[in-house]
Amino acid sequence: KKIIAYGVRKDEMPYFKKWAEDNSDVQVKTEPKLLDDSTVSEAKGFDGVDAYQQKPYTASVLNKLGSYGIHALSLRNVGVDNVDAKALKANNMKLTNVPSYSPEAIAELAVTDMLRLVRRGKIFDKKIMHGDLRWAPDVADEMDKMTVGIFGTGHIGRMVIKILRGFGSKIIAYDPYPNPKLEKEGIYVKNPKELYAKSDIITIHAPALKSNYHMINAKAFSEMKDGVYLINAARGTLVDTDALIKALDSGKVQGAGLDTYENEVGNFNKNWGSLDAIPDARLKNLIKRDNVIVTPHIAFYTKIAVKNMVEFSMSANKDLLETGKSDKLVKF
Ligand code: NAD
Ligand code: COI
Repeated sequence: KKIIAYGVRKDEMPYFKKWAEDNSDVQVKTEPKLLDDSTVSEAKGFDGVDAYQQKPYTASVLNKLGSYGIHALSLRNVGVDNVDAKALKANNMKLTNVPSYSPEAIAELAVTDMLRLVRRGKIFDKKIMHGDLRWAPDVADEMDKMTVGIFGTGHIGRMVIKILRGFGSKIIAYDPYPNPKLEKEGIYVKNPKELYAKSDIITIHAPALKSNYHMINAKAFSEMKDGVYLINAARGTLVDTDALIKALDSGKVQGAGLDTYENEVGNFNKNWGSLDAIPDARLKNLIKRDNVIVTPHIAFYTKIAVKNMVEFSMSANKDLLETGKSDKLVKF
C-alpha cells in the first residue's frame, strides 16, 4: 500500500520516518505542500492520503482524489470543520481524525491563559520590562474563589476540569451531550444562558459547527457576568470578534485568552517581522491589549501531541486501507 502525507512540517519528519520504518510494508511519501487543487495530482498512484491543514478540503480536491481511486483520508488533527462532508460522501471516501492525541496539551494552555489573565501576567511582564515594579493598580483575582464554566465536556473540556479541581475552583459545564460520570456529579447547567450567568471564567471546548457559528456574540456577552474572562482554544468561528472587541472596550469582558481567531488562516504560523506588519486590523487590536493573550493556535503544539498526530493518523490510514475500518472513523 502507498500513502502520501501532505502539509508535512520539518518538526513532523522524524515521526514520519519512524512510522515508515516500523511499517515497512507501506510506502510513504511526505509532501511539505498543503492538499489543494495545485497539489492534489501528486496523490495519483497512492492508495491513501494523510493530511493536516486549516485550509479547506474542498469538493474539487475530494472529487479529484475520488477519481484517482483514493477512498481513505486521514487527518492528523481533531477538528474536521474544514472538510466538505457532502463531497466526502459523494466520493465514498472514509475520513479519520485523531480524536485524542493529547487533550492535556490543549487543556494546559487553556488553564495557563486563565492563570495569566487572573494574575495579570501580561501586564506585570510589560511593566517589569519598563522598570516599573509597582503593585497597584493590578490587583489579581484568585482561581479558588471563581466559578469556571466549561463549554463542551469532551476530551479537552474534561481534562480542563481535571486540572481545575486542583485549584479548588467551582466548576460548571454545558454540553448538549452530557458525560454520564460528570452528570452524576451534578456539574451541568441546563443551557448556555445559565452558564453565562454563573461563570467568572468561560472556556470553550466545543467543535465548530454550522449551528454554533458566532455562538459567543453580543447577546451571549450581554448574558454574562460583568468582568468575565473568556478563553477560546477551540475554534475562532465560535466567537464573534467584533462583539468581543466591544465587550473588551466596555469592560464586560475583563480579559481574554485566544489561541484561535476567526480569521487566523493566513495570519497565524507566519513571521510578519513586526507587530505593525500584521495585516489583520482586528487581530492587531486584540494582540495590543494588556488584558488579551493571543497565541497562534499553539495549544496542540507539544512534542507528544505532534508525535501522536503523525503516528495515530498514519496507522488509521493503514487500517482503512487494509480493513476498511478504523476506530478513528469520523461520522458526520
Ligand atoms: P470532543 O469531540 O472530545 O468534545 C467536544 C465536546 O463538545 C463534545 O462533548 C460535544 O458534545 C460538545 N459540543 C458539541 N456542540 C456543542 C455546543 N454547541 N456547546 C457545547 N458543547 C458542545 O473534542 P475535543 O477533543 O474536546 O476538542 C474540542 C475542540 O477543540 C475541537 O473540536 C477542536 O476544534 C478544538 N481543538 C483545538 C486545538 C488547539 O490547538 N487549539 C487542538 C485540538 C482541538
Ligand atoms: C485540532 O487538532 O483540531 C487543532 O486545532 C490543532 C491543529 C491546529 C493542528
